[in-house]
Amino acid sequence: MLFAGVGGTSIAYARAGKQVIATDINAKRLAMAEHNAQIYGVSNNIDFICADFFKMASHVEAHTVVLDPPWGGPAYKSKNVFHIENLVAQSTILDNPDGHAILNLALRYFSEVVLRVPLNFDLSELNSYNHQSRVYDDVLDERVICRTVVFSS
Ligand SMILES: C[S@@+](CC[C@H](N)C(=O)[O-])C[C@H]1O[C@@H](n2cnc3c(N)ncnc32)[C@H](O)[C@@H]1O
Repeated sequence: MLFAGVGGTSIAYARAGKQVIATDINAKRLAMAEHNAQIYGVSNNIDFICADFFKMASHVEAHTVVLDPPWGGPAYKSKNVFHIENLVAQSTILDNPDGHAILNLALRYFSEVVLRVPLNFDLSELNSYNHQSRVYDDVLDERVICRTVVFSS
C-alpha cells in the first residue's frame, strides 16, 4: 500500500485481513493514519513507513501496490476530462512527478497495481499501458463515488 494519507484505505484492507505496508511522504498524515489504525484496532496488521514512493518502490517486497495519489485538490471535479497526468505527487528526487511516472514505476516493480481514479478520468488512456486492466465502480450509499483500476501482469 502506498500513498496512505490518513489511513482510510490501509485500515479497510487491514480490517479485511490483509497485512499492509502504509507509506506516505507526509509524516503528519502518517501519524494520523497510525492513530486511526489504533482506533480501529488494526495497528498490528499495518507497518507505517514515512517515505517517498519514487525512492522506495524498488525496495518494497509486496505482491500488490495500491496507489491513491492526490488528484490535485477539489478543482479535479471541474475538469471535463481528468487525464493520467492530472494525478500529481510530491517527490524528494523528481520534479513534479505525474500519474505516468507513478504508474510506470509501479508496473515495473509490482505484479498487481491498483489505482484509484475520479469519475471523470479518461479510461481510454489505460490502453497506452501494455497491461491488462479491470475497472470497478466504488460505491458509497448506492452512489458511484470514484473508480478503481486493477492492472495485472
Ligand atoms: C489522496 S491522499 C491518500 C488518501 C488515502 N488513500 C486514504 O484512504 O486516506 C494522497 C497522499 O499521497 C501522499 N503522497 C504524495 N506524494 C507522495 C510520494 N511521492 N510518496 C508517498 N506519498 C505521497 C500525500 O502526502 C497524501 O497523503
